Amino acid sequence: MREFAYNEILIKSDLAEKILADQYQIHGKATPLPGEIDFNFKINVKGVDRYILKISRPDAVFEELEFQQNLLEHLGHSKETIIVPKVIKDKSGLLITEIKDQFDRKRFIRLLSWIPGRIYSRVNPQLDTLRLSLGKTCGSLSKSLLGFDHPHAHRKFDWDIARSLWTKQYIHLFDDENALIVNYFQDLFARSKPRYDQLRKSVVHNDGNDNNIIVSSNLKYPEVIASIDYGDAVFTQTINDLAICCAYGMMNQNDPLSAASVIAEGYHQSLNIDEEEIAHLYSAIAMRLVISVTKSAINKIEEPDNIYLQISEKPAWEVLKKWKELSEDFVHFSFRYACVFTAHPNQNHFIKWASENEFSISQLFPSRNCSECLAIDLSVSSKWLGHLSDFADFDLFQFKINRLQKTVPEKIIAGGYLEPRMVYATDAYEKLGNKGKESRTVHLGIDFWLPPKTPVHAVLDGEIVAAVNDAGDKEYGGLIILKHQINEFCFFSLYGHLSVKSATSRKAGERIKQGELIAYIGDFPENGNWPPHLHFELMLSMLDYKVDFPGVAYKNELEVWKSICPDPNSLFKLVALKHDHQNTNDQLVCYRKNHLGKGMSLSYDEPIQMVRGMGAYLIDQFGKKYLDTVNNVAHVGHEHPMVVKAGQEQMALINTNTRYLHESINILAQELLETFPPELCVVHFVNSGSEANELALRMAKAFTGQKDILASEVGYHGNTNACVEISSYKFDGKGGSGCPDHTHIFPLPDTFRGKYRGNNTAFDYAQEVQDQIDLIQKKERGPAAFIIEPIISCGGQIELPEGFLTKAYAMTRKAGGLCISDEVQVGCGRMGKTFWGFELHGVVPDIVTIGKPLGNGHPIAAVVCTREVADKFASGMEYFNTFGGNPVSCAIATEVLRTIKREGLQNNALAVGDFLKENLKELAGEFPILADVRGQGLFLGIELTDAHLRPLADQTSYLANRMKDFGILMSIDGPDNNVLKIKPPIVFSQENAIELIDHLKMILNEDYMNL
Ligand SMILES: Cc1ncc(COP(=O)(O)O)c(C=O)c1O
Repeated sequence: MREFAYNEILIKSDLAEKILADQYQIHGKATPLPGEIDFNFKINVKGVDRYILKISRPDAVFEELEFQQNLLEHLGHSKETIIVPKVIKDKSGLLITEIKDQFDRKRFIRLLSWIPGRIYSRVNPQLDTLRLSLGKTCGSLSKSLLGFDHPHAHRKFDWDIARSLWTKQYIHLFDDENALIVNYFQDLFARSKPRYDQLRKSVVHNDGNDNNIIVSSNLKYPEVIASIDYGDAVFTQTINDLAICCAYGMMNQNDPLSAASVIAEGYHQSLNIDEEEIAHLYSAIAMRLVISVTKSAINKIEEPDNIYLQISEKPAWEVLKKWKELSEDFVHFSFRYACVFTAHPNQNHFIKWASENEFSISQLFPSRNCSECLAIDLSVSSKWLGHLSDFADFDLFQFKINRLQKTVPEKIIAGGYLEPRMVYATDAYEKLGNKGKESRTVHLGIDFWLPPKTPVHAVLDGEIVAAVNDAGDKEYGGLIILKHQINEFCFFSLYGHLSVKSATSRKAGERIKQGELIAYIGDFPENGNWPPHLHFELMLSMLDYKVDFPGVAYKNELEVWKSICPDPNSLFKLVALKHDHQNTNDQLVCYRKNHLGKGMSLSYDEPIQMVRGMGAYLIDQFGKKYLDTVNNVAHVGHEHPMVVKAGQEQMALINTNTRYLHESINILAQELLETFPPELCVVHFVNSGSEANELALRMAKAFTGQKDILASEVGYHGNTNACVEISSYKFDGKGGSGCPDHTHIFPLPDTFRGKYRGNNTAFDYAQEVQDQIDLIQKKERGPAAFIIEPIISCGGQIELPEGFLTKAYAMTRKAGGLCISDEVQVGCGRMGKTFWGFELHGVVPDIVTIGKPLGNGHPIAAVVCTREVADKFASGMEYFNTFGGNPVSCAIATEVLRTIKREGLQNNALAVGDFLKENLKELAGEFPILADVRGQGLFLGIELTDAHLRPLADQTSYLANRMKDFGILMSIDGPDNNVLKIKPPIVFSQENAIELIDHLKMILNEDYMNL
């Protein structure tokens, strides 16, 4: 039996049980709980946790306990929807019972109802939805307590933020570095104390730490339901309750401000907080943490063995240090925005002033004498910038600017406010947020693309606050910042990428008159890797920056930055520079719903918009990179520069059909056929996998004179009539109309959860094929073809049992049918060991269909067959295909094949695929929910089941959606939607594989994945 110790006095569970029986006539099992002051026991009655028994310290004050009991009774009658422990009276009807312990000391006993659920600190993951509910619950609690009071609430209490400056006398307990941090916040709080003291006050819970917050048992959508432990309640500033929730709710989060802002948003939804209260949140949060670390330091000396007293020390320090690194103003503005105020208090002043004043860009650049601009698009999705490799090319960029300028000599080329730019979507601009990586990509100023040495003038009076050479790791050139005082508010204007000499010749403190020259635009290379331009930005606050004020913002902080950095065009009001927001995801979804076919699905609970590709990554409109483990179409990597170039070059010359001679089709045919055994020597080019299978079926029917097709259960072969008719995945699935007469389905040869299980099942599954042949023959018909993928993709990455294909091919051929290998998913080197999937099985098909990978995203597909099959098909009727085999498609496909060879991508598929599979198997050892790992090369599957092999579709979907949150795309398939498919571009690297494994592991640890 565990014991609880305090000052050598022990209260054991059996004593607690006796007290419970004696005083409440309740018989239950007591389990000790950690606690700072009381001895707490969870009481289980007949297998259900029902109560919490609180046994006080011997020196407890009755009035203090009475205060808590009254407070709970008050909350029990609240109109707010809050859950609080119910007070249970003892056998004499008392709320508090007095007893003597075994040492004849007086103790007070209380019994409260148990609130079922989980403790916040143990919830994994802690997401914004949970934080919002934390804020809301905390706000409801504060609201319910507004009308409550009790004499004991007006005590002096160390944990009361309002009294937190007592911590000053313990500053010597910290080392120099930590003392600096603590001191900083103490001074800050002391300075703001006179105003803080005026804030609204009420009784507050005062201990919303993450061990006192109860969360619902729902593992997928957890919500905060209650606060427990009212022992610290006190009459103080109401806002302290929110500060405390934030202080603990942002622990262990990469981005504490983002976490705290959501809590504040929730709180404000329940109980309105005013602007003055918000202004004190930064220091109030910090002071709660300061109390916590000071208490820990004291307790370490006074009660070194009481671990509970030091429980929050490490995370408190971590978060305190991060908090100190943030700008107080930025935190203030973020909280304002979260509580539905303008983020910057002067935002509306500025908007009004700007609307009443008009300036011209000819004032900024009088030497150009232009009053108009031409906007250019440098966003992530900019077609003007083109391929990633193009805009890394300085000369090309400069050339494009010059050429464009020539077409509009009367205008200044400009743009960029709130533009998410690809150029910033690099590691240097990335941070780890609460949802994985975030890129600081959104541009906050306007760029004016003008020649070097163009003079820049002041559009209104100002004072220079910075005039420096802004050279960091990269060269940014000269930088000048002016401060403009406008009646009751001020703002700043920033001029970046100036010539260093002209900028540094000015001095901070100098006054500049409207129209006066400020400096000149700098030249390459002193102003960085881009063509000469002026970066012009407005700021309502300098925050804590002296010179290096950010020019770009993170998307998740954008609304706050927008308010701090208003649109510079609000001065000029040029229509051309009105920033055009791209279609939002919601708008795109809405249009699709109304005007595109309803059968088209979107991936993920929250769909994403992709605007660029780069190797194994897809990039959304904000420059967020997603590791793509889904797309076996972008076979040699998204937007492979050589493939793009091949297509662009051929497109520029000619694109016609196959009725003219063109060498591209011959070259492609030759290079493709070289990858096949000699028997497979004739090719037809088509436009899609479906079309390839459609043609293959026609060929088989022509060759055999039969119509019956043998195909696998849950197989998918395309979207045309004939293809759907042989795709059990479709006709046996949602909206399907069952198996057509001429289709003959054999069971999915799944050795893991199929009809026959284990390695030696080839014979049994082949026998099923034979049974179907027998049925066809019984009808006095014969099979035209047997079609199957070498690894069945839609079936859930099902590897065929060894020997199955040899047997099934032999049976089919014996019955007069042809064998078709559908390589639409698996072909072109993805298998690693072999270039084509059928080669894994030591067979040679009569027809092979190829699709997705061949064009790396461009629609080209092919049907390769034996000469006999081709000849029989050529019965005299012309085979014409308008687009099939056109020069552009052929140039692209040829480059794909060459890239696979040149870059050794088949070997990469083998090496990385084996590495990944091995690591996934290891992961499966750790997390039994990953019941099977299978596949070849970079075509792998992970099947999720419970211990009884029951499929776990919900968990699979949760995993895929959570992986997406962390920037990793995964797809789901299989008849039970419980298989994660991994089929990335085959440039997928070992580093990518490690990133995938690490994230899978992280999410597999989350509550919902642990049954
Ligand atoms: C195995 C298989 N065959 C054929 C097709 C049809 O290809 P497409 O969509 O290019 O028409 C697919 C498409 O997913 C497929 O997976």
